[in-house]
Amino acid sequence: MTTTPATRLAGRDLTIGYGDKTVITGLDVEIPTGELTVIVGPNACGKSTLLRGLARMLPTASGTVELDGAAIGSYPPKEVARRLGLLPQSPIAPDGIVVEDLVGRGRYPHQGVLRQWSKEDAAAVEQAMARANVSDLGDRMVTELSGGQRQRVWIAMALAQQTPILLLDEPTTYLDIAHQVEVLDLARGLQREGFTVVVVLHELHLAFRYATHLVVMREGAIVAQGGVNEVVTEELIEEVYGLPCRLIADPVSGRPIVIPLDEVA
Ligand SMILES: Nc1ncnc2c1ncn2[C@@H]1O[C@H](COP(=O)(O)OP(=O)(O)O)[C@@H](O)[C@H]1O
Ligand SMILES: [Mg+2]
Repeated sequence: MTTTPATRLAGRDLTIGYGDKTVITGLDVEIPTGELTVIVGPNACGKSTLLRGLARMLPTASGTVELDGAAIGSYPPKEVARRLGLLPQSPIAPDGIVVEDLVGRGRYPHQGVLRQWSKEDAAAVEQAMARANVSDLGDRMVTELSGGQRQRVWIAMALAQQTPILLLDEPTTYLDIAHQVEVLDLARGLQREGFTVVVVLHELHLAFRYATHLVVMREGAIVAQGGVNEVVTEELIEEVYGLPCRLIADPVSGRPIVIPLDEVA
């Protein structure tokens, strides 16, 4: 790692949108260092927009993103990419690329103007592929992989970037339950090693199971954040998703499981 584990990320009074369309207004968020933050919220509430804003993939209409105590806009782009990595929702691989080359693209922020491949780059790629359990897929075409394999390859690319902060936008969507757990175990393993990890998830059961810090969004705003058992109530789920429910305790983790009620009417 090139920066200290105490790398910090926060958004202050953020307003973010697309052209005339404002999605997020006056949002404050602190990404706790060294935690596994999970962001949940209904479709189109602005989760991806927030991640893109935090990663400077989208300009903020107003407000600031603070990275390690300075405005993110004050860093050269490569410096931002050495401090935080964003795995976007549904990333698209270049045509015909093989796994090892895709993972190698994660090294771009570490290369000089001549983009020469170094021993450090090769070691980082090898390590990232091992960590994401894709070492045996190196010469396979990315487009020919299963959904679970492909998702792990994208995570390997993000890991090869060797950033202390990782933002993963729906890394488990379209995966079966076993592969979802595999990806989330990896995210948790990274967090326990000192990474700051942010994951957007739809599956509430897994979100509540894995989050050490939960952020709940609705209509471009954060409506609740904190520890899962403190934050999650039947009232909150109904307010955010419009879904009357009961909560029961997950027998493995003690965290809440949402049981929807029938006949919403
Ligand atoms: N590139 C874009 N151009 C215009 N509107 C967008 C774009 N991306 C997302 N939006 C809109 O912004 C809102 C929030 O989207 P998004 O952040 O992707 O939500 P989420 O990730 O929570 O599902 C939605 O209404 C969506 O249609
Ligand atoms: Mg999204």
